[in-house]
Amino acid sequence: MSVPSARRVMVPVALAVLGLGLAAAPAAQGYQAEQALAGRAVFEQRCQGCHGGNLDDGRAPALAGPATNITRFETAQGLFDYLSVRMPANDRGSLTVNDAWAVTAYILSANGIEADGEVLSSITNAKEIPLTTGAPTDLTAPVEEQPMDEAADQEP
Ligand code: HEC
Repeated sequence: MSVPSARRVMVPVALAVLGLGLAAAPAAQGYQAEQALAGRAVFEQRCQGCHGGNLDDGRAPALAGPATNITRFETAQGLFDYLSVRMPANDRGSLTVNDAWAVTAYILSANGIEADGEVLSSITNAKEIPLTTGAPTDLTAPVEEQPMDEAADQEP
């Protein structure tokens, strides 16, 4: 009996897909720190009462920390789609589009996804940002982005 060939084909294909995923990862980060800070204000006003000030210390499901299940939304776009229609639970669908993106950025930041200076939205990057969890990022840290003239000043 000969070994079915599917397995021999699948392994290289899986590796190739993984390779593409890794190569695409740096470009797929991102939101603006200012956007997430605006989102924090929205969160404090409209979400914190149920989800808690630390995002995992309210009576509603945790949105960050070890107990959260937000990775089920898969991408930043998926999270946005959910919360812009389903939240806040006491006034569903009432967020403006800007506020919904801002609060999405804030939830990403609370889950360790770093700001990269690109505005988070469906026309830029949101479909490519996988939801992962991790320690909250520091939104006041400077973005690693160097203007051309500054870079030139640092030449020896
Ligand atoms: C009145 C309480 C309440 C408020 C206010 C509220 N939520 Fe929720 N949230 C819930 C409840 C309860 C659930 C569980 C699902 C449901 O009942 O619809 C939930 C679920 C979620 C989920 C899905 C979590 C998961 O893993 O399933 C997200 C994301 C979320 N809320 C985000 C927000 C955001 C962002 C805001 C503010 C704009 C907000 N919520 C405001 C009560 C609230």
